[in-house]
Amino acid sequence: MRALVAGAAGVLGSHLCDRLRRDGIEVLGLDNFYTGRRQNIEHLEGDPGFTFVEHDITRPADAVVTGPLDIIFNMACPASPRAYQRDPLFTLETNYVGTRNLLELARENEAIILQASTSEVYGDPTIHPQVESYWGNANCFGARGCYEEGKRVAETLMLEYARRYGVRIKVVRIFNTYGPRMDLEDGRIISSFTVQALRGEPITVFGDGSQTRSFCYVDDLVDGLVKMAASEPSFTGPVNLGNPAEFTVLETARIIKEIIGSGSVNVFKPLPPDDPRKRKPDIGLAESRLGWQPRVPFEEGLLRTIEYFRDIIGCSSQGVRRDF
Ligand SMILES: NC(=O)c1ccc[n+]([C@@H]2O[C@H](COP(=O)([O-])OP(=O)(O)OC[C@H]3O[C@@H](n4cnc5c(N)ncnc54)[C@H](O)[C@@H]3O)[C@@H](O)[C@H]2O)c1
Repeated sequence: MRALVAGAAGVLGSHLCDRLRRDGIEVLGLDNFYTGRRQNIEHLEGDPGFTFVEHDITRPADAVVTGPLDIIFNMACPASPRAYQRDPLFTLETNYVGTRNLLELARENEAIILQASTSEVYGDPTIHPQVESYWGNANCFGARGCYEEGKRVAETLMLEYARRYGVRIKVVRIFNTYGPRMDLEDGRIISSFTVQALRGEPITVFGDGSQTRSFCYVDDLVDGLVKMAASEPSFTGPVNLGNPAEFTVLETARIIKEIIGSGSVNVFKPLPPDDPRKRKPDIGLAESRLGWQPRVPFEEGLLRTIEYFRDIIGCSSQGVRRDF
């Protein structure tokens, strides 16, 4: 088996590369380092089963990708609002042109292609929890449109390549995922709250903190990707992958502070436009078709993530609770 992981230097992509290598699969990693970092994959240097090419998927990949491929994982796209709003046209292009280039590669290689889609295709959902048959409530003319609509059109591209060319597609809709290797400055809830709590700085809560999120630990998510890749050919998805345990933003801040033993206070800022009120996956389809469920409890995953951030920013682990 030989896999291409586009977005290999990102959080999910790099953990996926680790898992595939552990499973004995040869991996070709590809990334343009837009948000990804070399440190995330440097431990794989010297592994004869891992090669890497620096490349932007908005350009055709056939010139840089040599040798046959069995499966392509398209993880390449900035994922945090701060990153995907930095250059909205690049985000759109990555999702349309980039996904299309990888679909062409899949077609040439007769490879399976798995698309990392997102819960953001549901926009600010009007049903709860979100089930795959829900068409969503996204704003194509808003601040998050470049990502939401980009990901939606990428799903449509997958579908049309399957219809016209018989490309074997798999679409997963990923809900908030966290874990080691997250960027300190990406502005996402887990990374921001953890870093602020470790530094003893105020915790920035947007809105009144009553909005909910569900958080999946990265190892669980990667396990879902691998199960989806190996699922029966007729199962294309889209399938939700996420942890249905739901927390308000205020509860999340409290739990993180409790684990760290931090006395940080909360400060409240206005809610960004189009921020979803509720997020929780219905994972019935993943359970029945993939036999997949997240296993890592929130506190356990947080502890592993906190340890990672603590090492990076050089804080003492004094006070960090390990009794979960
Ligand atoms: N982490 C989450 O909570 C989450 C939730 C839903 C969906 N996703 C999706 O999963 C994928 C991975 O997310 P992540 O959290 O690891 O994000 P990330 O930003 O850590 O990783 C994305 C990687 O893709 C690379 N990349 C971006 N544009 C590229 C391009 N045009 N060409 C080549 N490489 C490019 C980046 O440099 C980075 O290494 C993304 O597609 C994201 O939309 C993630």
